[in-house]
Amino acid sequence: MNIILLGPPGAGKGTQAKILQDRYHVGQIATGDMLRAEVKAGTTLGRIAKSVMEAGELVSDDLIIDMLRNRLAQEDCRHGFILDGFPRTVPQAEALDAMLAVEKQDLRAVILLKVDEDVLVERIAGRFSCAACGAGYHDTMHPTAKAGICDKCGGTEFIRRPDDNPVTVKQRFAAYNRQTAPILPYYQAKHIYYEVDGMADMDDVTIAIERALRQAG
Ligand code: AP5
Ligand code: ZN
Repeated sequence: MNIILLGPPGAGKGTQAKILQDRYHVGQIATGDMLRAEVKAGTTLGRIAKSVMEAGELVSDDLIIDMLRNRLAQEDCRHGFILDGFPRTVPQAEALDAMLAVEKQDLRAVILLKVDEDVLVERIAGRFSCAACGAGYHDTMHPTAKAGICDKCGGTEFIRRPDDNPVTVKQRFAAYNRQTAPILPYYQAKHIYYEVDGMADMDDVTIAIERALRQAG
């Protein structure tokens, strides 16, 4: 089962992708997480991506498509994958179709998580994560890290993404509207496109995604 989760920054793509990955035992491919790992490791790709990400722009299609091609070849994607953060441009969507055609695979569903911009801003502004295990938390919304201790691993150090500041977030929204929103008609035309209310509680969003997946067959 191959699925794409689409949506603007903060829509809940990563949150839902992790839930679905555990449930369906398919690979989760989060291009943003992969790029952050490259930045942390100080690779050539990471050095190029760092300034682009900090500006809230998109990393070039060529670099992203190469990174994705290598990731799709990994063992955990053999029985399917959930894409979170890819594709973000029409050329990326076309490149994915070409890669899947070579493997005689297809996409089950492309699901858009719809969330109002003021809610997105609130979600992103309060978001932080455990430096040790990556568990996600929020200043005011559930889950919060009680007494500064991670529920998952007991870690006490937390980090915020450098691109979660208000100036960069504005650029990320602009990049989404300019470059990513135009791919929605591409999938609508293929009749594999579904919209889900991403403003609902996390569990209800998962239920709505699973309903869409059943509809998709
Ligand atoms: P990326 O890491 O993909 O960031 P993004 O798309 O901006 O998305 P986020 O990770 O901010 O949000 P999300 O939708 O995953 O929401 P989350 O689940 O965390 O990309 C970062 C950068 O990398 C890009 O700007 C670009 O530069 C580069 N890049 C990446 N992929 C690329 C590509 N393909 N091409 C070119 N460049 C690329 O949820 C957000 C918060 O809300 C969390 O606190 C969460 O707990 C909370 N939350 C989630 N769901 C709910 C809910 N239902 N109710 C209440 N709270 C909720
Ligand atoms: Zn932790």
